[in-house]
Amino acid sequence: MSILTRLTLPLSLFAALADTKTSAQTDPPDVAAQALTLPPIDCPLQRAGVDPSKLKPFEEVEKYIAFLERPGRAQWQRPDAVIEALGLKGTETVADLGAGSGYFAFQLAKAVPRGQIIAIDSEAEMVRHVHRKAQTEGVKNLRAQLAQPEDPALPDGTDLVFVCDVLMHVKEKSAWLRALHAQMRPGARITLIDFKEGDLPEGPPESVKVPKAEILRLCTSAGFRLEEDRPSLLPYQEFLVFSRP
Ligand SMILES: C[S@@+](CC[C@H](N)C(=O)[O-])C[C@H]1O[C@@H](n2cnc3c(N)ncnc32)[C@H](O)[C@@H]1O
Repeated sequence: MSILTRLTLPLSLFAALADTKTSAQTDPPDVAAQALTLPPIDCPLQRAGVDPSKLKPFEEVEKYIAFLERPGRAQWQRPDAVIEALGLKGTETVADLGAGSGYFAFQLAKAVPRGQIIAIDSEAEMVRHVHRKAQTEGVKNLRAQLAQPEDPALPDGTDLVFVCDVLMHVKEKSAWLRALHAQMRPGARITLIDFKEGDLPEGPPESVKVPKAEILRLCTSAGFRLEEDRPSLLPYQEFLVFSRP
């Protein structure tokens, strides 16, 4: 079903319901009074000053989410091995930066039951999707947050920044990494997972990839110190951990 069909179908239903409403007229006064006492809706988009009702639908959002969540991905993405490699204690604050559909964010939330996951993305539809999923599934230690493409907007006290398949999408990589460095506390870590160079069965075209040597150069010149380089953890991606001295 296309996004357009999904939007028009509820609208026609809404029109039919509105007609029915005219015969029933107004709600009983006690219901109206109850509505006034409800807490305000916590919406990450409104928090970021974005009016969700004016949002232009992210083109093909459902297809993109399905692509990120495709069943075969786990075979080579090895999310369990990735999370184990992070060596989390369970109390950390982790920022999943460029979280997309929340592929990792929801698994990270299980790995830090006494901590917090902030799923950050510069794409409002992704933030809306993660927020809705967290609410529907009752995931209490995960919140979604909208960021500007050039400003990671890390929450204070972040222990780990998790960045999977994002760097290639960032236009001003050097400035973005410097901003991240400035927003991280000394001792905090950043994990970068990015596609390896070469002809692989998965991953973007070669022209889009950020070569490992370039990632190392960008991160060290932003002020980060390389702590781990695990090229054999994942078949198609590099796994690098840096600290913010
Ligand atoms: C390929 S997806 C990866 C999603 C997720 N990390 C995963 O592994 O499934 C890249 C995501 O990064 C987001 N993104 C791109 N540039 C960004 C930026 N400058 N700041 C925050 N998010 C960004 C995109 O909107 C998209 O959701």
